[in-house]
Amino acid sequence: MKKYSFISAVTCLLFQIGIMCAYGQTTQMAAGVTKISTGEIDQFTPYGFCSEPPAKAALDKLPSGKLPFNMADIRISINKRGVVVEVPLDPSEQLYGFGLQIGSFNQRGLKKRPIVNDNPLNDLGYTHGPATFYVSNKGYGILINTARYTTFYCGSTARLTNNNAVSAEVKGGNSVEELYKSDHKASGYVTADIPGAKGIEVFVFEGPDLKNAMQRYNLFGGGGALPAIWGLGVKYRVKADFKQSQVDKMAAYFRDNHIPCDVLGLEPKWQTAAYSCSYVWNKDFFPTPNEFIDSMKHKGFHLNLWEHAFVSPKSPIYKSLKNKAGNYLVWNGLVPDFADTAATSIFANYHQTTFVQPGISGFKMDECDNSNISFGSDTWSFPELSQFPSGIDGEQMHQLFGLLYQKTIYGIYKKLNQRTYLDVRASNAFASSYPAALYSDTYVHEEYIRMILNSGFSGMIWSPEVRESNSIKDFMRRSQTAVLSAQTLYNSWYLQNPPWLQINREKNNKGELMDNAQTVEADIRKLLNFRMSLIPYLYNAFADYHFKGIPPFRALVMDYPDDKNTYNLADEYMIGNSILAAPLTEKQDGRKVYLPQGTWYDFNTNKPYEGGREYTIKPDLTQLPIFIKGGTILPLARPVEYVTPDTRFDITCYVYGKADASATLFEDDGITFNYEKGSYNMLNLIWNKNKGQTKRDGKFKNTRYSIKKWQVIN
Ligand code: GAL
Repeated sequence: MKKYSFISAVTCLLFQIGIMCAYGQTTQMAAGVTKISTGEIDQFTPYGFCSEPPAKAALDKLPSGKLPFNMADIRISINKRGVVVEVPLDPSEQLYGFGLQIGSFNQRGLKKRPIVNDNPLNDLGYTHGPATFYVSNKGYGILINTARYTTFYCGSTARLTNNNAVSAEVKGGNSVEELYKSDHKASGYVTADIPGAKGIEVFVFEGPDLKNAMQRYNLFGGGGALPAIWGLGVKYRVKADFKQSQVDKMAAYFRDNHIPCDVLGLEPKWQTAAYSCSYVWNKDFFPTPNEFIDSMKHKGFHLNLWEHAFVSPKSPIYKSLKNKAGNYLVWNGLVPDFADTAATSIFANYHQTTFVQPGISGFKMDECDNSNISFGSDTWSFPELSQFPSGIDGEQMHQLFGLLYQKTIYGIYKKLNQRTYLDVRASNAFASSYPAALYSDTYVHEEYIRMILNSGFSGMIWSPEVRESNSIKDFMRRSQTAVLSAQTLYNSWYLQNPPWLQINREKNNKGELMDNAQTVEADIRKLLNFRMSLIPYLYNAFADYHFKGIPPFRALVMDYPDDKNTYNLADEYMIGNSILAAPLTEKQDGRKVYLPQGTWYDFNTNKPYEGGREYTIKPDLTQLPIFIKGGTILPLARPVEYVTPDTRFDITCYVYGKADASATLFEDDGITFNYEKGSYNMLNLIWNKNKGQTKRDGKFKNTRYSIKKWQVIN
């Protein structure tokens, strides 16, 4: 780490109210990553808890960045209220990020408070993933390293300066429009307000372009997560009160009907106490849990357990955690002090021996966000005024709770050299390396689509789950989005039957299946089979996330930052390098899709389209609304029903366009971290002079992919 004094700890008295302005000290943390720090830094910050070291070699390989402003133009002031950070903003800049925002995409001109919450109302900034991080289309990213509730004014404030024009007379007419028309000129800054802080660290991630800045952010946090390969298949969560025999029946249903499924998730009732949690198998429901886990494993199912972190008095870890918890309870349960390694060890060790070692493949870490007003109209969770033995307060604990929970659970799997794919309801900055998909109860399809794009600006993974639906059309459209996302999840936690057999919740639970249930089931099988075909391609996109920091799911502006048409495009996104997805909702029979420069092929018709303009598409309910980029290769596998350590994918390479093209497939065991020690291959797919070739580079001894066919689409 290179340290140099920029203008070391210069403080100057500014303005009448005694604001201190401190430029602070700059430290180069890695290639293109600079930290500016000033004042008394908080003990508990997102970066302070980042477990992975920066991916130095990959960071060094990125092109060198260039900021559109001077580092010294970032102003930091400490005042009685807290800290204010001001980052220069050009009039033409577009801003993205602030974690997993739900309601907005391009954040320029908005006021955003990324605060953790389960029901993010009114687009104020509340979110499941409140990262205090944004990126600009001018090719840089800014992270305010704080766990305090922070407000960002994204070029929406105007400061009084000596140069403000004084308008002596009120001009214009008396219409309402004129009354509200102002010559208000926003300041050329993003202003962040961090009340309560006495000092701050600001991380600056250089580009040169937006994607590079995002890569730097992800790589600095250790590189993106590489989920266990089976995690990219289909996850189905069964009804909360299902007993062992009912789960067995559901498992048989999937296999008998050849509907792909890799993971079955158990919801609250598997435990003796759930609100708060005992973390003890409910033997009335699951009489022989370990045998059950084994038998599921033999049928090719991984098991995932729902829980939250609030520890019931009935739990065996209650006693040892009692003096390592906050001073407020949630549902009568302890809130473990995850900022203290003694508390996390108790929690992790217990989970390791009781669940992970016997074969539980993952957890759903619920309710680690917070609530203002929850869906049942109640409010829950610990108050911001809580105190914890480590010294962290309730506000900071809230912002970090999901992050620390992930760290605790993921740490178990890492230690055992076993990969996983987790579910989590809250996250924060520097979570890129956690293979945990965020989910939400909110269930607005348009928002779920937008969150796929926003996840790419936050180093988070987002899972737009499917439950009941208003209509078959709604159900199919939601299923398409789930198939075209980082995790395909059916969350049937309150449904007796799979929702494709009955979309209506009440009827579903009464066992009244739809007349056309079989047709819908067949359509869903088709969609899920496509998901299974996509696994090798997706897995490679995740390898790019891990090794290069490139988000596997990302807004078009990340790949086309100079194309103004992409700046506000909040419902189209790239999956990996070749696929452009443009999902539809229930409200749409067709939609406009903008295709950037180049040639794009409609996946369903193989028809080429010239980019740089908009088209209208009308995919039917079983067709995936995707376009493939000309000049690329899309490797698709013959679908399997689930992925085992021995699965070998039979691949057809689809070559789009007449030109030479290349692609890669990342190949390893899919279930351990041995790839970190070099045990993997890059299978290079090369289309050259109308001939397909493959070249395997690497040390992994087995092969997972067998290339069966090349097919040209042009
Ligand atoms: C919610 C969660 C749901 C389901 C439910 C079970 O908090 O978001 O997906 O797991 O709890 O009680």
